[in-house]
Amino acid sequence: MAKRIDVSDLNVYYGQFKAVEGVTMTVEPRSVTAFIGPSGCGKSTFLRTLNRMHEVIPGGRVEGKVLLDDQDLYASDVDPVAVRRTIGMVFQRPNPFPTMSIYDNVAAGLRLNGVKGRKKLDEVVEKSLRGANLWNEVKDRLNKPGAGLSGGQQQRLCIARAIAVEPQVLLMDEPCSALDPISTLAIEDLINDLKSQYTIVIVTHNMQQAARVSDRTAFFNLAATGKPGKLVEIDDTHRIFNNPSVKATEDYISGRFG
Ligand SMILES: Nc1ncnc2c1ncn2[C@@H]1O[C@H](COP(=O)(O)OP(=O)(O)OP(=O)(O)O)[C@@H](O)[C@H]1O
Ligand SMILES: [Mg+2]
Repeated sequence: MAKRIDVSDLNVYYGQFKAVEGVTMTVEPRSVTAFIGPSGCGKSTFLRTLNRMHEVIPGGRVEGKVLLDDQDLYASDVDPVAVRRTIGMVFQRPNPFPTMSIYDNVAAGLRLNGVKGRKKLDEVVEKSLRGANLWNEVKDRLNKPGAGLSGGQQQRLCIARAIAVEPQVLLMDEPCSALDPISTLAIEDLINDLKSQYTIVIVTHNMQQAARVSDRTAFFNLAATGKPGKLVEIDDTHRIFNNPSVKATEDYISGRFG
C-alpha cells in the first residue's frame, strides 16, 4: 500500500517566478521524511507538487518528474483528482468541513469514492477514528459538528478523514503548528503509528519535532530573496542532526539562521 516517491529535477513556478529549482530526491515508503528550512524556501510549494495540488493555483506550473512507485504522476493520461485521492494531505490549520458532523467529515471521501451502505461506512469511520487516536473522545458524539472539537481534536479528525480513503502517501504541512504541546505529542505518536502503513512527509519548523518523528530529513534553503529554493541535502535524520554534509545545514539546525 505505501509507495515510494521518486522526484527528479523538479522545477516549480508561480507564473514567471521559479519558486523551487532542481529537486531530486527519493521518499521511502513506510517511513517519515521531514522537510525543514527557512521560511519562503519552497517547502509547501514543493510538497504540493507531490499530489498535484500546486497546479490548482493560477499560474502554477511544474517541470520534471514525480514517480509514485513506477507511475509518472504528471503523465498526460493521469487524472490529477485521482492523484489527490491517492496522496492525502493534512494542512497547518485543521480544516474540518464546518457544517458536517464528525461522522460525515470522516465519511466524506468514502462517499465521493462511491462507498455506500451504512454498515460499511460505520466500519471505516470507526477504524479511521481509532487510527487517528480520536475514537474514544468522540464515539458518543459522532453526530455533532466537527467544528465543535478542540484544535488538536480537529487536526486528528482531519487525519482520520485523510486515512479513511486509505491513501498511499500522507503529506502534512506543519500539522502541529496551531496546536498545544500535548496535542502535538498526540499527533507525533499518531504519525509514529501510521508510518508502518504509509509513506509520510511532514513539513515542520520545529527541529525537535523533526528529530523525534522522522527517519529521514530534507533541508531546503534559499540563496536570496527572489531566488528559487533548493534542496540542500537529504539523509538519515540522525546524520542530518549530528553530522550533516553541508555547513548551511548545520548552521540552520543549530539556529544560526532561519
Ligand atoms: N500562491 C502563490 N503565488 C505566488 N508566489 C507564491 C505563492 N505561494 C508561495 N509563493 C512564493 O513561493 C516561495 C515559496 O513559498 P512557500 O510557501 O513554498 O515557502 P515555505 O518554505 O513553505 O515557507 P514557510 O516556512 O513560511 O511556510 C516564496 O517566495 C513565496 O512567496
Ligand atoms: Mg510553508
